[in-house]
Amino acid sequence: MADLGHDVLGVDTDERKILALTEGQAPFYEPGLAELLLSTVRSGKLRFSTSVADAASFAEVHFICVGTPQLPGSFGADLSHIETVLQGLAPNLREDCLVVGKSTVPVGTATRLAARLAELAPPGISAHLAWNPEFLREGYAVEDTLRPDRLVVGATSAEDDAVLRKVYTPLLESGTPYITTDLPTAELTKVAANSFLATKISFINAMANVCEVAGADVVTLSEALGRDTRIGRRFLSAGLGFGGGCLGKDIRAFIARATELGVADSVHFLQQVDEINSGRRRRVVDIARELADGTFAGMNIAVLGAAFKPETDDVRDSPALTVAATIRAEGAAVRVHDPKAIENARLAVPDLDYADDVIKACEGADVVLHLTEWQEYRELDPAALRAVVRSPQIVDARNILPLRRWQEAGWTVRSMGAAVPS
Ligand code: UGA
Repeated sequence: MADLGHDVLGVDTDERKILALTEGQAPFYEPGLAELLLSTVRSGKLRFSTSVADAASFAEVHFICVGTPQLPGSFGADLSHIETVLQGLAPNLREDCLVVGKSTVPVGTATRLAARLAELAPPGISAHLAWNPEFLREGYAVEDTLRPDRLVVGATSAEDDAVLRKVYTPLLESGTPYITTDLPTAELTKVAANSFLATKISFINAMANVCEVAGADVVTLSEALGRDTRIGRRFLSAGLGFGGGCLGKDIRAFIARATELGVADSVHFLQQVDEINSGRRRRVVDIARELADGTFAGMNIAVLGAAFKPETDDVRDSPALTVAATIRAEGAAVRVHDPKAIENARLAVPDLDYADDVIKACEGADVVLHLTEWQEYRELDPAALRAVVRSPQIVDARNILPLRRWQEAGWTVRSMGAAVPS
């Protein structure tokens, strides 16, 4: 927003984060963010505070961007952070304004929050709510924000819609499609998009399961299917499946909400999407156990990758860490490498060993597991690694390594969704 030319005040309750941000330091790894943060902080366009009351008196447009994680012990989304923000913001408002939700929420939430906002705002202040879901991908957050595929805005009046059109003027001028709709359609667009993406990934992973027993090859299948422009190649990579803080929790929250609305049958397939996805993690563990001659006891397993996908240090619901922790629980010594996510991984799963370079992670390994497809793993020298492992066996759980080169260097290789070697 600051880069688009607005004066921005960013608020968070975490004082350490705000302190770092004030100095232009991003509290997590995201390509391009550090540079953008520095330039906008230096220009004075972007400032930070821990006070919601400061924000309330500062702006005429307020974006709520807090997380909606899965509730413990339930499929539903935890909306308490949004509610806390609204309760802090609304009574402190000093002028008419628009509050805009960006968080992913169960359909129907925005209508309820709009009423709450009107109720909590001081007398004489007109505060409206709009919903403007966020579609950015971690790893491409800056690019997706400055050059989005589309903007979707749920608004209850033409005036509110006009405010958001004004906010996004530079993007509209550069041709970004802008879709105006009502609050429920805007909320649902986000949930439906993530459900579709998760379904696409689980579809190709289901095909991978069939390929393994039918002697077919899922990588070629994806290429061939993806050439059909109605299908498209993106999000059709079989392997270890999806993780992260979004797809999994969003399909579960959708199942919970659809059940409340009495239409559980319509999204029942998402349950299977989730099950196919968790099956991929078990499948990688099974392949690794086979290579370890049936038991992990006394085995050294090297794990390449801890982040839920490359170009992030996010380990929330990371498939790589789930696999590593499961194998550790079955008695192996597991040593994990990741270019950016080691610190977060250590906090999430402290009883794994961590190495700060690939060679150290692989020293003495009986099986090497390639679980997150960082570019640097594609460029590894199989001969150099062969010299340090105890047994040259690798599982490419992301179907991305040049496996012929690894075979030529003497490695036994396994990928996902290819014929199981007899
Ligand atoms: C996802 C959506 O792609 C964004 O559009 C959305 O805004 C975001 O969630 C959100 O709701 O905030 P993200 O979680 O950053 O973005 O990650 P993705 O790029 O969607 O990848 C999710 C997972 O799917 C990763 O673990 C990735 O490795 C996996 N994946 C992706 C596959 O297994 N196969 C594929 O073909 C593509």
